[in-house]
Amino acid sequence: MKTDLFVIAAVAVFGASAMAFAGDIKLPAPQKTGGPTVFAAIDQRGSAGHSGFPSGNLDRQDLSTILWAASGNNRDGAKWTVPMGMGRPPYCKIYVTTAEGVFLYDWKAHELKQVSAENVGSRIPMQDFAKNAPAVLYIVGDNAALADLPRQDWVAEWCGVLAGAMSQNIYLASQGVGVGTRLIYSINREEAARLLKLGPKDTPFFAMPMGKK
Ligand SMILES: Cc1cc2nc3c(=O)[nH]c(=O)nc-3n(C[C@H](O)[C@H](O)[C@H](O)COP(=O)(O)O)c2cc1C
Repeated sequence: MKTDLFVIAAVAVFGASAMAFAGDIKLPAPQKTGGPTVFAAIDQRGSAGHSGFPSGNLDRQDLSTILWAASGNNRDGAKWTVPMGMGRPPYCKIYVTTAEGVFLYDWKAHELKQVSAENVGSRIPMQDFAKNAPAVLYIVGDNAALADLPRQDWVAEWCGVLAGAMSQNIYLASQGVGVGTRLIYSINREEAARLLKLGPKDTPFFAMPMGKK
């Protein structure tokens, strides 16, 4: 009861999004220099193969750089690494599953907010290589964030366009830090909604299993 009252009071004072929980992970600063040139990364971009999919664990620095490239702040914190319709804040979310649990990337704080401590890695992807990947990123359309668009038939297209831009940055940044990945559409969407604890208007688009080479 005391704990409940404390949580209610804390939410009232700080707001739910500002609260830090024990399982949250503050990411180190992303790598912004070095690595292959952008042209070399484009030239080498490719999906990791099903057989021999890389099995090394990503460290926090790898995750930091890849997530930042996908939808982090750039240009002195004023804008984002991917183009957003009307310059809005990101309206696709990125969930990360690892052996440590399920996390939501918070681009503002550059943190992983823990959604659960469950190891769900094998339960959403449908292909074996992806079930065994050390980390999986899920790109999820945040339709509610576009509820005020002038036309609601734009929402799905805007989210899809953004998800595509994010995925290409994920491929290129992963290439740069020695991580292999592959975009996969074959995921169990009902399980994704349940295990990632998605809202009713969230749309899981695809996953990107990854492993250190
Ligand atoms: C929309 C889309 C859906 C995909 N779905 C899957 C998938 O479910 N499983 C898989 O193994 N690869 C999937 N892929 C990866 C493609 O098979 C891969 O990109 C393609 O074979 C070309 O290889 P490359 O990425 O190395 O150029 C998907 C790619 C896209 C763009």
